[in-house]
Amino acid sequence: MRERIADAPGGEETEYNVYPPNLHSPYRERRFEVGEDLYRSIGIARENRPERLAQFARNFAFFDAPLALFCTVDRRMGPPQWADLGMFMQSAMLLLREEGLHSCAQECWAMYPKTIGAFLDLPDERMLFSGMAIGYEDTDAAINQWRAQRTRLDDFAEFIGI
Ligand SMILES: Cc1cc2nc3c(=O)[nH]c(=O)nc-3n(C[C@H](O)[C@H](O)[C@H](O)COP(=O)(O)O)c2cc1C
Repeated sequence: MRERIADAPGGEETEYNVYPPNLHSPYRERRFEVGEDLYRSIGIARENRPERLAQFARNFAFFDAPLALFCTVDRRMGPPQWADLGMFMQSAMLLLREEGLHSCAQECWAMYPKTIGAFLDLPDERMLFSGMAIGYEDTDAAINQWRAQRTRLDDFAEFIGI
């Protein structure tokens, strides 16, 4: 991946949109804020593009985790089965917590579908959805001290009849 990133820093042609084109409000602002908070937690200023890119590239070393998953989906399946895959991944992540392990879902791997497809020898019908780094949290690392802000419940949920 180190070589691949140097050759193609912007990734390969993706097989699905990780975000919709022209991400709209309020998601655009939330995405921006979560990124700002993350880089702030490790003291990287917004204008420091090289350090931001270097931090992003740590994704492709699984943040030094010793174990990883690549999660794929049969490309003939539609949104309901993609939802199933998300549930499957979350179940795996919760089971990992039960065993004292931590994980980070990593959709960034979808930026390199050709490279990973060749590495895994994926059959044509399987599309790479996401990676997942698995290991033990480094509790001393500054990046692990912050938490993404949470939107107020009333802003995204409506309870009717109670
Ligand atoms: C499907 C999915 C893909 C993600 N992809 C990435 C990624 O590529 N790189 C990354 O650092 N975090 C990734 N994340 C992790 C989020 O950035 C965030 O750290 C994680 O969801 C925990 O924060 P939360 O408790 O606010 O959800 C992903 C999360 C999900 C659910």
